[in-house]
Amino acid sequence: MSDNLVKQPILWTHALTKQVSTGDEQLTILQDVNLQVNAGEAVAIIGASGSGKSTLLGLLAGLDLPTSGKVHLDNIDIFTLDEDSRATLRSKILGFVFQSFQLLPALTALENVMLPLELTAVSNAEATARRLLDRVGLAMRLYHYPKQLSGGEQQRVAIARAFATDPKLLLADEPTGNLDSATGIQIIELMFELNREHGTTLVLVTHDEALSRRCSRQIRLANGQLVQ
Ligand SMILES: Nc1ncnc2c1ncn2[C@@H]1O[C@H](COP(=O)(O)OP(=O)(O)OP(=O)(O)O)[C@@H](O)[C@H]1O
Ligand SMILES: [Mg+2]
Repeated sequence: MSDNLVKQPILWTHALTKQVSTGDEQLTILQDVNLQVNAGEAVAIIGASGSGKSTLLGLLAGLDLPTSGKVHLDNIDIFTLDEDSRATLRSKILGFVFQSFQLLPALTALENVMLPLELTAVSNAEATARRLLDRVGLAMRLYHYPKQLSGGEQQRVAIARAFATDPKLLLADEPTGNLDSATGIQIIELMFELNREHGTTLVLVTHDEALSRRCSRQIRLANGQLVQ
């Protein structure tokens, strides 16, 4: 507890709840989730399939709206902002790796990684994107379109894209899920290097034991609730 008083949380939630209606039924996907992540920490979110991990990550990023509850990101109560302001905040401080990658199909690997840099008007977008794609082992795939890349290659492009703007906070959904163990280890190393070098806070949803063990803390979800 005293630890939490001296460290600065970059992310915290209060009673975060998400319900959806499916036909005549009300389904509670997340219930009363209270969590805190301090700046510079690496936290794993673990739990069975369907326990609410991706839903939680989407809410933490302000990509989805809760039914009730709060998310504070970098001292901002994000659901008091409109969608455009949340998008601006995201582009400034957040990197996000989706479980389904979400690369833009009409852009090459290089262009996909350059895009967030161009949106923040960085001058050396191409050089930065090339360097990141090299770090994820894709220097030979710069001009491939997503459909010309394997699942693991697309995932690595998505990781390079998430790191492009040097975010304070990286939220990644199964970042090693589609990778063989050697490539997975490389990606884990890359994420923890950035954590060390830049103080990037990592919040990683994962089934990967090795990845979860590398994190300083594990947050477990079961049926949409945190398990202590
Ligand atoms: N829009 C929605 N409408 C109805 N049900 C939903 C919706 N989104 C998610 N769910 C349900 O909520 C539960 C949690 O989904 P979520 O994708 O967060 O799980 P997860 O922990 O990420 O699972 P996995 O490990 O398989 O990726 C699942 O049972 C899912 O079917
Ligand atoms: Mg998921």
